[in-house]
Amino acid sequence: MNADGRTRLNQRPEWTALAKHREELGEVRLRELFAADSGRGTAYTLRVGDLYVDYSKHLVTDDTLRLLRELAAATDVFGLRDAMFRGEKINTTENRAVLHSALRASRDAVIEVDGENVVPDVHAVLDRMADFADRVRSGAWAGHTGKRIRNIVNVGIGGSDLGPAMAYEVLRAFTDRSLTVRFVSNVDGADLHEAIRDLDPAETLFVIASKTFTTIETVTNATSARSWLLAALGDESAVAKHFVALSTNAEKVAAFGIDTANMFEFWDWVGGRYSYDSAIGLALMIAIGPDRFREMLDGFRIVDDHFRTAPAESNVPLLMGLLGIWYGNFHDAQSHAVLPYSHYLSKFTAYLQQLDMESNGKSVDRDGHGVEWQTGPVVWGTPGTNGQHAYYQLIHQGTKLIPADFIGFARPVGELSEQLKAQHDLLMANFFAQTQALAFGKTPEEVRAEGVPEELVPHKTFQGDHPTTTILAPELTPSVLGQLVALYEHKVFVQGAVWNIDSFDQWGVELGKVLAKRVEPALTEGAEVEGLDASTKALVATYRELRGR
Ligand code: F6P
Repeated sequence: MNADGRTRLNQRPEWTALAKHREELGEVRLRELFAADSGRGTAYTLRVGDLYVDYSKHLVTDDTLRLLRELAAATDVFGLRDAMFRGEKINTTENRAVLHSALRASRDAVIEVDGENVVPDVHAVLDRMADFADRVRSGAWAGHTGKRIRNIVNVGIGGSDLGPAMAYEVLRAFTDRSLTVRFVSNVDGADLHEAIRDLDPAETLFVIASKTFTTIETVTNATSARSWLLAALGDESAVAKHFVALSTNAEKVAAFGIDTANMFEFWDWVGGRYSYDSAIGLALMIAIGPDRFREMLDGFRIVDDHFRTAPAESNVPLLMGLLGIWYGNFHDAQSHAVLPYSHYLSKFTAYLQQLDMESNGKSVDRDGHGVEWQTGPVVWGTPGTNGQHAYYQLIHQGTKLIPADFIGFARPVGELSEQLKAQHDLLMANFFAQTQALAFGKTPEEVRAEGVPEELVPHKTFQGDHPTTTILAPELTPSVLGQLVALYEHKVFVQGAVWNIDSFDQWGVELGKVLAKRVEPALTEGAEVEGLDASTKALVATYRELRGR
């Protein structure tokens, strides 16, 4: 029991019931579960929007799912969900509402923060973005010298980079191919250098994306980008045609030297990692056009509505969140792989890393007590089939339990030649084969029946029982991307709600920022920095020596 009288998560009867169930279930054999229920392959599936979600290859029975839903009910996941959608300040450590769902609300929706409907503001910014994107795309917005803008460089980091960079990659087939769109995030000067080295400044628009406009990496890169531009165009007034800002902080934008008329705003109730469907998506909108961007928002909204209204038994984000809890808390799984079978989703898992790990990488609960249960997993993965030839060995035959999501599409997207389109079946054959192999493995008897010498039988045996979710969609469209992202946003929400942590703050990134600021003068000027530990002191000295300082 907490001091405030609330039952600790791991003392709840629903938690203990799950622990007991796990013990009684012992080692689950997926072969047996499928043999016992010929309908499992279709019964354990759900649909949301365009997504077909198969969870039959999980180490769960009807009882497991019921007990997990009871845990969700006891921890009032749906109560917190409703509070979030209502605009209540559920981000308690920052006293903020959590309303990324308002970013894709329909024009006539009413969502209030502090008594004010925020939806008209959301649509006003979307309309301004659309107008600006259209002008850049048509050439009506020209650069300082009158040349047409052909290059867009988004400068931002974390949520101000990963989201738009991921979505640009995902939706490449829908982009205006005459535009070059690049994303710069790293304060390593090499990132900006490589992004602009072959560009003509007169044709380049910098989109400076930063919620706070105080992030050192972004401000530093933006400053260097401005110097590069001014060195070529000579005149301070060029900035107005070549720099726009995406931010919540008009004051800092103006202080940086960007006219706030060229600023697209969003609000403190949008978390950075939940922001690419806000003004932060401007570079993406320029690339794909406002109509496609709106289709993407429609996709988000399909899953928002589903999460808000679907009963627990058929609620996909709830199910996915609870499955993660089953493995993380009752099977000691430490990580979760997301394995998309689409080249266009190459940055999707990196995007999810911030979404999930910055949200749920917490060890203190909402009441300020240390948690005694595992929270967010390590999220990782790269597109299939590449991973198959790299780390799948460990998933198949290693000693760790790694639940995985497989994401695939029935039709290839884009202007592929007939020959390249035909490769899609091979890609998807791998997609289906992998989850089959992971679930059902290969027994020693099956290996022997192939005439394998006895000494190799253990090496060629596959244990199986590696759990996977399969998400299958018809095609990777803007709407489907929105659906996928909203699905994971809400999955992360469900887990944070059950674990009783604040999924919307990120205090864990602060200490490193402060220390970097403190250590920098030691590197540049050899300044004596107070409180530097012996290891760091020696490292700094070696660094200075190597730099010849
Ligand atoms: O340092 C972490 C973080 O605050 C992220 O949460 C955020 O997405 C990123 O930095 C960038 O912040 P900003 O958009 O304010 O520059």
